[in-house]
Amino acid sequence: AHQWQGVIEEYRYRLPVSADTPVVTLGEGGTPLVAAQWLSEQTGCEVWLKVEGNNPTGSFKDRGMTVAISLAAQAGDKAVVCASTGNTSASAAAYAVRAGMVPLVLIPAGRIAKGKLAQAVVHGAKLVQIDGGFDDCLRIVRELGKHYPVALVNSVNPVRLEGQKTAAFEVCDALGDAPDLHLLPVGNAGNIAAYWKGYQEYAKDKLATRTPQMWGFQAEGAAPIVRGAIVEKPETAATAIRVGNPASWTLAEAARDESGGRIEMITDEMILNAQRELAAREGVFVEPASAAGIAGLLHAKAQGWLPGGSTIAITVTGHGLKDIDTALDHVSMDESPVTAADTDAVARVAGLA
Ligand code: F0G
Repeated sequence: AHQWQGVIEEYRYRLPVSADTPVVTLGEGGTPLVAAQWLSEQTGCEVWLKVEGNNPTGSFKDRGMTVAISLAAQAGDKAVVCASTGNTSASAAAYAVRAGMVPLVLIPAGRIAKGKLAQAVVHGAKLVQIDGGFDDCLRIVRELGKHYPVALVNSVNPVRLEGQKTAAFEVCDALGDAPDLHLLPVGNAGNIAAYWKGYQEYAKDKLATRTPQMWGFQAEGAAPIVRGAIVEKPETAATAIRVGNPASWTLAEAARDESGGRIEMITDEMILNAQRELAAREGVFVEPASAAGIAGLLHAKAQGWLPGGSTIAITVTGHGLKDIDTALDHVSMDESPVTAADTDAVARVAGLA
């Protein structure tokens, strides 16, 4: 029986590792590509979901982190540092402690989802809450990396994107070719660049006949690439993509332009609706930021942008359980009253009797 070995062993020949690299893995990657029946009906396209919440720490960040931490271990680093809206820090913490390193994480105070905070805490990260946003955190960790003996594991470290590009390989391996379109959320803009790199490699080596158009989606209140200007005070309920000055801005624009794609924005309302619909109709629960690509798909359909019959892959980037507070916001438990432990009473309350 085959057990998935993690992205380094599965795609070793395409990653910047050597025989001497100690592989630090939690079995990341190999995530399901799920057929989206409802979204396909809504759009007249063949829609697939790359469900990245199925990674070990619940987001796509694990793909890049296995490579970053393995190479840091090879270099003899003792401590790693990252800035994060929550998922990078959860992943960095898990992989760092597995490698016997100390994880140091900087997060915007009060602005990361509870599940992610819990992950950093249980893995034993040294947690510094910054009075500022993600962009402030990133500026500081870059300085720390320059002046102190800590390895920077944000996606400004190019090996992170190398690991993340494996998701594009998996989509092609599952579909037998690249899709026509690939949709995904854009925050710090590393992932769109990573997918584009992966798709280009597969096409160049004839493992796919084409590359997809890359379509990225930012939240309206945090859409610097769409607006063409840094957003000083980014704001969105999708805290994972609350980024005003993305590190991989130029790479994201290159992915858009070289692929003939687009980077667009959608409102928080569209994101939260898409999150609910995806959970209620497809059975896939993602965190708010992860629904940006779904909101983008529905928006694109409404705008008439979608070529009918296209094959579309959408990355849903992180698990819904990371942020249950947002999911339960505006939910009233009045509709699920506490009921006597009695079958007849339950049948009445449930509308069966
Ligand atoms: N979706 C989720 C769930 C994320 O956590 C992120 C980024 C993105 C999408 C956007 O990906 O930054 O490569 O464009 N989270 C980073 C973090 C910023 O710190 O966890 P991106």
